[in-house]
Amino acid sequence: MTDDAASDAAATPTDSPTPQDAIDAASADRRTGRDPRVYDHTAGDVQDGVPFIGAGPGDPGLLTVTGKELVEDADLVVHAGSLVNSELLEAYCADAETVSSVGKDLEALIPLMRDAHEAGRTVVRLHSGDPAIYGAALEQMDALEQAGVPAYVVPGVTSAFAASATLRTQLTLNGTANHVAFTRPQGRTLDPEDDHISEFVEMGDVTTCIYLGTHAIPDVMDRLLEDGHDPDTPVTVVYHASWPDEDVIDGTVETIGDLVEDAGYRASALVVIGEAGAGAGYERSYLYGDWANRNGSEGEADD
Ligand SMILES: C[S@@+](CC[C@H](N)C(=O)[O-])C[C@H]1O[C@@H](n2cnc3c(N)ncnc32)[C@H](O)[C@@H]1O
Repeated sequence: MTDDAASDAAATPTDSPTPQDAIDAASADRRTGRDPRVYDHTAGDVQDGVPFIGAGPGDPGLLTVTGKELVEDADLVVHAGSLVNSELLEAYCADAETVSSVGKDLEALIPLMRDAHEAGRTVVRLHSGDPAIYGAALEQMDALEQAGVPAYVVPGVTSAFAASATLRTQLTLNGTANHVAFTRPQGRTLDPEDDHISEFVEMGDVTTCIYLGTHAIPDVMDRLLEDGHDPDTPVTVVYHASWPDEDVIDGTVETIGDLVEDAGYRASALVVIGEAGAGAGYERSYLYGDWANRNGSEGEADD
């Protein structure tokens, strides 16, 4: 191809924008201003287009009321495969077409949802937990919108919150943990220099919640030991939080790797590092102590 022919080809108006074009354009646009819908809607509003719904951690009862109504109304449910409990699909959308997104790239997913929407079918996209946490939802929404289909988010219960409820504790706990880190370990999609687990643990008063790391627990713990962290630091692994086969494994930085390997879990678990996971060592809060009693008056408080 000559240079002229190549530049003609590049300028061909029939070139349709790709999902990557949509991502580049939308992320650049957002640097200069917000979509007006941000100010026109609350997080609980049902809006036009395809909802990206947080399915919650697994138990169908942990889907929001709005999420359930939207799923019940759907003709096509594109879901996150084994991370979405099949009981939820059977309970709420047994008559809909259900398609797993696993193994489909944007180039396959976007036309699937766009074509169904344009054909007048009601489409929902069901993510596990909440789409905002390791959900890769925004790129799908941007690509859909560029393809002419509006999209919006219906939040869900992220698995760290389900794990905390299972453990009957809090992720922030007075005197123990003032901060929470949602993180993931280094691996195929995260470079070692971007793995901050050791730094979060070093901070001491952080509850570190590790997603996408079940298969790597022994490696993560080895790195913590190499970095000089206390081998007795508590670590709890919650497998399949809120599912019928949910399992809780308590250990320490030193022991949890072997315990999880013995249990045979390679995926679908949440790792909680820190004392808050055990609900241990905390102190009574100011909120229900001195603050409540100040002047004997009522007022506003964060709870
Ligand atoms: C791709 S991420 C999606 C996270 C999801 N968006 C959320 O908010 O929970 C998948 C990871 O979430 C965690 N996860 C998802 N569901 C879980 C559950 N029911 N119990 C424990 N961990 C879970 C696991 O760490 C899994 O590797």
